[in-house]
Amino acid sequence: MALPSLRPIVAALLLAACDSSEPAAPRDAGNDLADSPPTPDVTPDAADVTDVTDVSDVAVRRLPAIEGIAELPDMNPDPRIVEVSLTSAPAVAHWREGVDTDVLAYNGITPGPMIHARVGDRVIVHFRNEMEDDTTVHWHGLRISDLMDGSPALQEPVRPGGEFTYDFVVPDAATFWYHSHIGTAEQIERGLYGALVVHEAEPPVVDRERIYVLDDVKLASSGQIAPALASGPDIGRGRYGNVLLTNGQTTPVTATAARNAVERWRIVSAANARSLRVRVDGAMWKVVGTDGGLLPTPYEASEIVVGPGQRYDLEVRMEDGSASAATLVTTVLTSLADGGLADRDYTLASVTLDGEVAPRPAWVAPSVTLPNAAPEMAQALNWALSGRVVDGGVEFTINGVAGLGHGSHTAAHDYIERVPQGRPVRITLRSDVSPEHPFHLHGQFFQIVAPQSRARLEPGLKDVVLVRGAEPVTILSYFENPGRWMVHCHISEHAERGMMSEIMVLPPSP
Ligand code: C2O
Ligand code: CU
Repeated sequence: MALPSLRPIVAALLLAACDSSEPAAPRDAGNDLADSPPTPDVTPDAADVTDVTDVSDVAVRRLPAIEGIAELPDMNPDPRIVEVSLTSAPAVAHWREGVDTDVLAYNGITPGPMIHARVGDRVIVHFRNEMEDDTTVHWHGLRISDLMDGSPALQEPVRPGGEFTYDFVVPDAATFWYHSHIGTAEQIERGLYGALVVHEAEPPVVDRERIYVLDDVKLASSGQIAPALASGPDIGRGRYGNVLLTNGQTTPVTATAARNAVERWRIVSAANARSLRVRVDGAMWKVVGTDGGLLPTPYEASEIVVGPGQRYDLEVRMEDGSASAATLVTTVLTSLADGGLADRDYTLASVTLDGEVAPRPAWVAPSVTLPNAAPEMAQALNWALSGRVVDGGVEFTINGVAGLGHGSHTAAHDYIERVPQGRPVRITLRSDVSPEHPFHLHGQFFQIVAPQSRARLEPGLKDVVLVRGAEPVTILSYFENPGRWMVHCHISEHAERGMMSEIMVLPPSP
């Protein structure tokens, strides 16, 4: 059978990519979630822990507080177990003046409450689905058992009214997140995501940690979330929102800090499709961590590009003598009244400087060693990301196959690859449709090894890599975590339209 030429599709998709009819709304046009609950201090004060026999153990176990999102209370007194309940249900958000926007939320808020643990802890999540649709919860980036991964290919969906207990040990310290893994183009867009932070056994000492979970949501003129997968550009390029959200607010998240303070800011992108160009103004800053945790060598940057699903940890030093605030800013290509396009800055968060502390030694980078990035014996694989027009629109493919998605959770398919556990594998990802694919591997980390410029600019362990335009990018993974793992584009619309498959990581036979 002759394949239809890809050319017109590529043209259509590129055209879609340039569609700029949905500029980000000016920040002051939206309403904020100022009435959302303040971050409760769920860390017990030393004075409160009278009923625990070994107080010193509790003191040792206490995790550094993270400001920005309410933390899910840990119901388990065992200091090595974090046990929480999480419920997905319809809720409302207040993003536009006088409008109750229908959202889907974990425990009533979007982003959902933060799950907070220390590396090596056991995490037990009693999950309940109070929505009208099936769902699962995926723990993005965690190298846990595939049976606990929330993969809809492996886990029976949690039905309306149903429950499931996720139970796993967190093997790595980093900034992670969790989200729905069924009908993601709709469920994540409508709010089903939250942060999950795993602290190092000995976290670097800072004055404060903050977390910023970023998103862009597409509101219709009614103020309700526009229907999913409903337009050409939404599918071709992936859905760009017209309202920016920081920790679920349409207005900048505000806080104060003392001059000279050293802070750790954790950035998570929950956007469906838009990569966010982010920087800090009014302070000295460095990138100290990424998807897989702290970097061996922190680096300075003028801006970072946070693709959907990616995380960055920043060290922010409040040392810019003249600034009155440190701000987290994103630059968005925005359409102008005259029909042109221009970069425009939007403030996502603002930390006002107030008072002063004595300068402290800046970030003390803990020693981190990454696996050898240039193993001689790596097996080489090529994965082609593509698409084609079929009855009913565009479908996306990996190596010519449109995989899971289409809302079908258990559709028969083959693994795109079987790889032996622990053996280095280089995968070259190449795209011939759409401007960008943030490609994600479940349950594994990898490093970018080529081209050199990318390897240098985006060091460290990742679980999402931006595959841009026609430039192939090569990643290297040791596939250390055995099992059945999803691999997919993190543009939800692409994943749901077929750019989602699985690999099998085979443990050595006994
Ligand atoms: Cu955030 Cu299948 O992943
Ligand atoms: Cu994609």
